[in-house]
Amino acid sequence: MQYSEKVMDHFMNPRNVGEIEDASGVGTVGNAKCGDIMKVYLKIENGIVEDAKFKTFGCGAAVATSSMATELIKGKTIQEAMTITNKAVMEALDGLPPIKVHCSCLAEEALHAALWDYAEKNGIVIEGLKKPVNDISEHEEVPEEDY
Ligand code: FES
Repeated sequence: MQYSEKVMDHFMNPRNVGEIEDASGVGTVGNAKCGDIMKVYLKIENGIVEDAKFKTFGCGAAVATSSMATELIKGKTIQEAMTITNKAVMEALDGLPPIKVHCSCLAEEALHAALWDYAEKNGIVIEGLKKPVNDISEHEEVPEEDY
């Protein structure tokens, strides 16, 4: 399996690891098939994502994608944050091997779960944001052998 230099860099030196104590939104998602779990903390002020941190009990690609996803979301408005899809994260990392694509979905879902938490706490609706699921494997069409 071949990983890009960017994936290796974000795996070896992950950015934004940790937690934000007074986070505006926190999201935790997992994938029951691979057993990986990701937690994202967002600090949002005046509609801007001022800070983002994550913790993951997951594979190397889960570390790299959450590192990149938290880098991408910092400084964004909430609507801009919604454009950070798993594809955008993968592109920023110069790609992932096909069997690791689901790891980037976990990163996207964790961001969305944190945004959802923020929206609920503040009584707002974020356009295009769906209620997060705790276990993303229920919604995936990935064949078993890809894990
Ligand atoms: Fe499941 Fe990477 S997140 S193997």
